[in-house]
Amino acid sequence: MKPFYITTPLYYVNDEPHIGHAYTTVVADVLSRYHRLFGNEVLFLTGVDEHGQKIEQAAKKAGRTPQEHCDEYSKRFVAVWEKLNIQYDVFYRTTDSNHKKVVQDCLQKLWDKGDIYSKEYEGWYCVSDEVYYTEKDLVNGMSPTGRPVEKIKETNYFFRMSQYQQQLIDTIEANPQLVLPEFRKNEVLGFLRQPLHDLSISRPKSRLSWGIEIPFDTDHVTYVWFDALLNYAVAVGLGQPDRLDQFNKWWNPKTGGGALHLIGKDILMTHAVYWTTMLMAMGEPLPKTIFAHGWWLTDSNEKMSKSQGTVTRPLDLMNVIGVDPMRYFLVRDMKLGNDAQFSFDLARQRYNSELSNTLGNLLSRTTNLVQKYFEGKWPDVNRNHPSTEALRSQALELPTKIEKYILAYQPDQAVEAVLQVLFHANRYLEEHAPWKSAKEDVNLAAEPLRVALEVLRLSAIALAPVMPEKSRKILEGIGADTSFEWQRLHTWLTETQVSPIEKIEPLFPRLQ
Ligand code: MSP
Repeated sequence: MKPFYITTPLYYVNDEPHIGHAYTTVVADVLSRYHRLFGNEVLFLTGVDEHGQKIEQAAKKAGRTPQEHCDEYSKRFVAVWEKLNIQYDVFYRTTDSNHKKVVQDCLQKLWDKGDIYSKEYEGWYCVSDEVYYTEKDLVNGMSPTGRPVEKIKETNYFFRMSQYQQQLIDTIEANPQLVLPEFRKNEVLGFLRQPLHDLSISRPKSRLSWGIEIPFDTDHVTYVWFDALLNYAVAVGLGQPDRLDQFNKWWNPKTGGGALHLIGKDILMTHAVYWTTMLMAMGEPLPKTIFAHGWWLTDSNEKMSKSQGTVTRPLDLMNVIGVDPMRYFLVRDMKLGNDAQFSFDLARQRYNSELSNTLGNLLSRTTNLVQKYFEGKWPDVNRNHPSTEALRSQALELPTKIEKYILAYQPDQAVEAVLQVLFHANRYLEEHAPWKSAKEDVNLAAEPLRVALEVLRLSAIALAPVMPEKSRKILEGIGADTSFEWQRLHTWLTETQVSPIEKIEPLFPRLQ
């Protein structure tokens, strides 16, 4: 049993959860559930990023205190994750008192060490990104992400990030798993060819009061990224001597730990540069992997975003196609790491062709015939048709293939492998046409139907991390044991039926 620690970003609570948040969180949930199935011990962290100017402004606009605003919006994230059936272990909030205390301890430590100094800052700040930019970063007077910036001139505390530039380059080069996919690693290394500047990590309270107070200067609060990034390690015991065991287990690679940070490509630099150098300065181990996924784009290939008004609330699609199909679509339609287009139409096509026509159809045909000709009992198989053998061997490759794809961050390929087995099973049924042969002699229909049930059993377990509820219903529908156990993917025709097959509602009714 190996520990597997996975995190999503902490989402800003300035607004409603949308498709971008739902994507990262669903993928993290799917990876977590696969690891649990493999028998690993999983810790899955998600949560909210509650400080900073963006939140302060949103609260003001809503006529609430920032804390009230955060409490309200945190609840909305929790509610959406519940609907989407996200099985997280930790819901992290940066307004938590333990978090604040450890962030202050870390700042103090870096101050005492001389890694933080104060200086007059003049430059540009983008509230939407919560990122400082230099003059030459700007594109047509906007941030590189196309958002407004404001000129700032004030005294800030700076973290000596520049001192860690070479160490960071060396570490990234020596650890090919640290930044993934590989083309993103190259982007980070490309960025690091320019001199790295020091990082402003404070704001005067006169401009922003909603943040963690700087312990050595109470007139300033901490820059929101410096505060939020620490969550990943604080959650598993950083800076808390009484939680050293946990820290070693989940964080420290020397003792078997190591985090996987799943993030979007827009926040790669904050993770791969700010966070890693912060850890270096504190003398703490780096995460095992920072994996940056792509964006969901509109049909005109723009990032779906709130400011563009193209963002889709996760609930909207979920209400049309259902929770599990929504999870399926998100995992299936995007290669982790690349961009993909999003539209209700694409989701509907995917649903109809794969869930309704392939999986749903196999399930309803098979269970109907087993009811009709075998009184709902699994038929006995005593011959072994050559075409059965081909299907059997492909189906039994599933556990190895899926494990390989999940470890390679290709959940879409894991799903594809199951789908290939289902396509095969549908062809196999066509070939045997049990609906015809049973009319002559039911014994002729026994093997194809029993084999189709078996493929459904294996597929349901193999897809359980993606569609937990539908998978359970499939197992129930075919009268099989409903527990999800990896071991059960290695067996063929040896399980016994646990309940009779009865008429079931279509699990994936076609969408118009
Ligand atoms: N609060 C910071 C993260 C701090 S982590 C210590 C933040 N929050 S966020 O609310 O803006 O969430 C960003 C996440 O949503 C990113 O991973 C981002 O890539 C993802 N997405 C936002 N829009 C997206 C799409 N259109 N498509 C896919 N994901 C995108 O950044």
